Amino acid sequence: MLVADHKTALITGASFGIGLELARIFAREGYNLVLVARSGDKLRQLASELEKAHGTRSLILATDLTEPGAPAHVLDQTTRADIQVDVLVNNAGFGQYGMFAENDLEECLRQIQLNVTALTHLTRLYLPAMIERAKTERKSGRILNVASTATFQPGPLMAVYFATKAYVLHLSEALANELNGTGVTVTCLCPGVTATEFHKRANATGQRLLKFGAMDARTVAEDGYHALMSGKPVAISGFKNWLLAQSVRLLPRWLATAIVRKTQEQ
Ligand SMILES: NC(=O)c1ccc[n+]([C@@H]2O[C@H](COP(=O)([O-])OP(=O)(O)OC[C@H]3O[C@@H](n4cnc5c(N)ncnc54)[C@H](OP(=O)(O)O)[C@@H]3O)[C@@H](O)[C@H]2O)c1
Repeated sequence: MLVADHKTALITGASFGIGLELARIFAREGYNLVLVARSGDKLRQLASELEKAHGTRSLILATDLTEPGAPAHVLDQTTRADIQVDVLVNNAGFGQYGMFAENDLEECLRQIQLNVTALTHLTRLYLPAMIERAKTERKSGRILNVASTATFQPGPLMAVYFATKAYVLHLSEALANELNGTGVTVTCLCPGVTATEFHKRANATGQRLLKFGAMDARTVAEDGYHALMSGKPVAISGFKNWLLAQSVRLLPRWLATAIVRKTQEQ
C-alpha cells in the first residue's frame, strides 16, 4: 500500500535511461511510483535510492511487457495493492537495427508487442478510471507516451522501429483530441538521439546519426515531465530535434526517407 495522500505515477521501462530519469523527477515532485521493467534488481536499487532521497514509496513490478498478458497483470497488481494510477508513462521500448528481410522475426514482433501493443493495452486499461475520476477531481489523469523523432519520417534500416513510433504519435494525438474537455491529457514525447542503453541494445552503435551528438536522458525526461504537466499534446525534446522535425515537412517523402537511410548507415 502506497502513501494515500500522494499521487502515483506508473512508469514502464524505469530501470534504465529516460524512464529511470523520469522516475527520479516524479519522486522529486512528491509522487509515489509503480516501476515496471524486466530488471527487478535495478528497480529495487532505484526504489531504495528514491525512498532515501524523497521518502518515495514504490511498487516494483518486474515484468516482461512483450508477454501478451503483461499489461493485464500490471493492472491486476496495482488494483490488488489499492493503487490509483494518476499518471501513466508508457516509456518502455526498443529498436532493432538492420534490413527488415534479414532481421530476426521473433525480435521484430516483440518490438511491435512492446512499442505498440503493450502501450495501447496499458492505456486502454488505465484510461477509463482516469476519465471517471476526472469528473470529480479537477485535472486528474495524465498519460505520457514516449515516441521519438523517428515518428516524423520512414526509417530504412530501422523500418519497424520508426513505424512503431509513428503509431505512438498518431494514437497519442487522436486520444488527446478525444479527451478534450474530460480533464485527462495525453502527451507524446519525441526525443532525438539520447545517451542511454538504447543504441547498444538495438545493435546500432555505428550509425552516422550518432556523430551529431546525443542529448542526456535527464534533460529529455525534464522536457517530457514539463510537457506532460502543461498538457501539451506533442513535445519534441531539444531545439535541434525540433528544427529537424520541422524541416522534414518541407521535403518530398522519398527524399526525407533517403536522407534517413544515409544517417542510419554505419
Ligand atoms: N535513446 C534514444 O536515442 C531514444 C530516442 C528516441 C526515443 N527513445 C525511446 O525512449 C524510450 C526509452 O528508451 P531509452 O533510450 O531510455 O532506452 P534504454 O536505456 O534501453 O531503456 C529502455 C527501458 O525499457 C525497458 N524495457 C525494454 N524491454 C522491455 C520489456 N520487454 N518489458 C519491460 N520493459 C522493457 C528496459 O528495462 P529492462 O531491460 O529492465 O526490461 C529499460 O528500462 C523508448 O521507448 C525508446 O524508443 C529513445
